[in-house]
Amino acid sequence: MRKKQQYQRASRHSKIMRKKLGRVMVRKATLRDMDVLVDHRRRLFSELHPEAKFDYSAWAREYKRFVRKHMRGKRFVAFLTQRKDGAVIATGAVWIKDVPPRPMAPPVWIKEPYLLSMYTLPEYRGYGLATRIVKEAMKWSKSKGFSRMSLHASEMGRPVYKKLGWERGWEMRIRL
Ligand SMILES: CC(C)(COP(=O)(O)OP(=O)(O)OC[C@H]1O[C@@H](n2cnc3c(N)ncnc32)[C@H](O)[C@@H]1OP(=O)(O)O)[C@@H](O)C(=O)NCCC(=O)NCCS
Repeated sequence: MRKKQQYQRASRHSKIMRKKLGRVMVRKATLRDMDVLVDHRRRLFSELHPEAKFDYSAWAREYKRFVRKHMRGKRFVAFLTQRKDGAVIATGAVWIKDVPPRPMAPPVWIKEPYLLSMYTLPEYRGYGLATRIVKEAMKWSKSKGFSRMSLHASEMGRPVYKKLGWERGWEMRIRL
């Protein structure tokens, strides 16, 4: 019962916040949105690694090349939320990566959508913008015939994905 009340309070609160934010639309990004995609990804890295001194200009050149190449090849789709005045306040992307064929999937499924670069400007967090982008990315991936997706989640991102039904997998890693 207490949990239900808490949930109802939280959802009322988020409706009020949404009202204050005004109309926000979600749309697919184009190459013209490159600057904001790069900016949000740079912000993401500097937030997650505040102590690191990365060479962001060298990185930005490479990232732009990556986005351009894969957007043109239809293997990179970005989504953004935009305010009425045109300001882009949250972004996220799907990259269709290659995966080795699996016996349990049809042989043509050797690609998998990978969700990346989820970022919401700090003052707009908690309005459900990332949730809208993830839903859009999932819908898009499903419409392309994919039956699963993957991602690498940050601490902040986890609740967003979990709420939408994403599960933790068995991935491991090591620094070499
Ligand atoms: C993770 C991130 C994209 C979420 O963006 P967002 O637009 O705030 O996400 P949503 O509003 O859809 O959902 C946020 C959830 O976290 C909860 N939350 C907890 N603390 C919060 C806070 N201080 N501010 C906002 N939301 C908070 C919200 O309650 C919400 O859950 P709810 O819908 O059940 O209420 C954003 O925090 C971010 O850009 N973080 C830095 C970069 C990062 O970690 N990216 C993810 C990489 S995997």
